[in-house]
Amino acid sequence: MSQFLSNCTADAMASAAKRLIAGDLVVFPTETVYGLGADACNAKAVARIYSVKGRPNDHPLIAHIASMDRMGDWASEVPEYAIALARNFWPGPMTLVLKRSELAGDFVTGGQDTVGVRVPDHAVALALLEAFERAGGKGVAAPSANRFGHVSPTTAAAVVEELAGYLSKDDLVLDGGRCNVGVESTIIDCTSDSPKVLRPGAISISMIETCTELKVMSENDGFKIRVSGSLEKHYSPKAKVLIDESPKPGQGYIALANFETPKGVIRLASPTSDEEFAYMLYSALREADIMGISEIVVIQPVGKGIAVAIRDRLKRAANSS
Ligand code: TXA
Ligand code: MG
Repeated sequence: MSQFLSNCTADAMASAAKRLIAGDLVVFPTETVYGLGADACNAKAVARIYSVKGRPNDHPLIAHIASMDRMGDWASEVPEYAIALARNFWPGPMTLVLKRSELAGDFVTGGQDTVGVRVPDHAVALALLEAFERAGGKGVAAPSANRFGHVSPTTAAAVVEELAGYLSKDDLVLDGGRCNVGVESTIIDCTSDSPKVLRPGAISISMIETCTELKVMSENDGFKIRVSGSLEKHYSPKAKVLIDESPKPGQGYIALANFETPKGVIRLASPTSDEEFAYMLYSALREADIMGISEIVVIQPVGKGIAVAIRDRLKRAANSS
């Protein structure tokens, strides 16, 4: 069992950074979901991420850095539009996929010639990354802190529930409260003339287009991508997820607040906006599992923006094949 820290003082961040340098794992909060972090330059430490997650090791990890000044450490080519995106949306819920530098080993990139980089927007994450860089570190590799295929954790309690049996005594879990955004970052491939969205998130296509003045491609444009979250089944609770059905007694129910709860149905969340929907979704799915509910009906939001990311995750959570 790992250690758990809820008082994230500067001293505590310095010792958490030391753990990373020593090759231990540190789970940390971000604005999207909790990340399972290791020194991105330490092959042995990164290998432990894969075993703790139970994730196939050809799936690439995101390198988290404290500021965009560090992009050049990890990337060998950064197009103008990627710099514009970094300036506009970092720190924030956005990952840029760039041609990798020598620093980005195969053990982080899954053997691809690109690397994912992100500056998270969370005080604890930034304090940890800054302390880590002061201690000589270059970046923290971190996937979402869940077992492979499960729902990402948005609270430290959910991390413990997922990973307590897999972390060791020298690993650390930092509690930074509930993640504000609640779904994983938008992943943007910046290796060609125009940006491609590999995974939708809070940074929407129209935000990217306004920022870059370029037409953005997404999965709907028919290209095939290699993102573990793009596997058909992912982000799944134990319960079966049913989308846009009418809920029956005994089933869990997640829908915007203006949808009423039929008699006997167990209401799990009533968000009042799409942003709140994203914020509540993963904890509501987890809550259903804790309550032993076997089926959850979700009425998905119809809008653009973050609603696109919510529908993407729900489609995969619902896929029981
Ligand atoms: O919000 C987030 O992005 C969170 C927090 C912790 O930062 N992280 C996260 O990591 O969601 P993970 O590993 O669960 O999902 C990252 C996705 C994976 O599906 C991976 O395949 C993709 O990013 N990815 C990473 N590097 C890539 C690359 N070089 N090319 C294409 N996809 C990449
Ligand atoms: Mg994940």
